[in-house]
Amino acid sequence: MDWSQLTTLAWQTRDLAYAPYSQFLVGAAVIDDVGNTFAGCNVENLSFGLTICAERTAIATAIAAGSRKLRAVVVVADTETPISPCGACRQVMAEFGITEIRLCNRREHLDFTLEQLLPRPSAGILNR
Ligand code: THU
Repeated sequence: MDWSQLTTLAWQTRDLAYAPYSQFLVGAAVIDDVGNTFAGCNVENLSFGLTICAERTAIATAIAAGSRKLRAVVVVADTETPISPCGACRQVMAEFGITEIRLCNRREHLDFTLEQLLPRPSAGILNR
């Protein structure tokens, strides 16, 4: 896993975030099972509930490019402590097989498995 390339991509894409309401810029980058990478940023809306997180933007970009099996995600923000993905993004990570998650601020990173952040993501749903 080339965490450093994925992290650079996430920081670069954070600069493109559309966050006029929160001023909170987030970047994310995912890598798929054959090593292709895709990036995303948060995209806010005047109707706040329509906001799309950086993680889901990156995942949707991967899917729209034909990737189906994703491996890892890096999420970056300029925060005191590394950012933590929302519950919706964790569920979407599970959908496409992301198992490794790196959360970064400018000074440090924290690594998690999906299982740590979202136990039993599909158990009991549609009899899975
Ligand atoms: N946000 C993300 O993009 N990813 C996260 O992991 C947490 C929050 C965005 C959504 C919103 O645009 C802003 O950060 C404040 O919540």
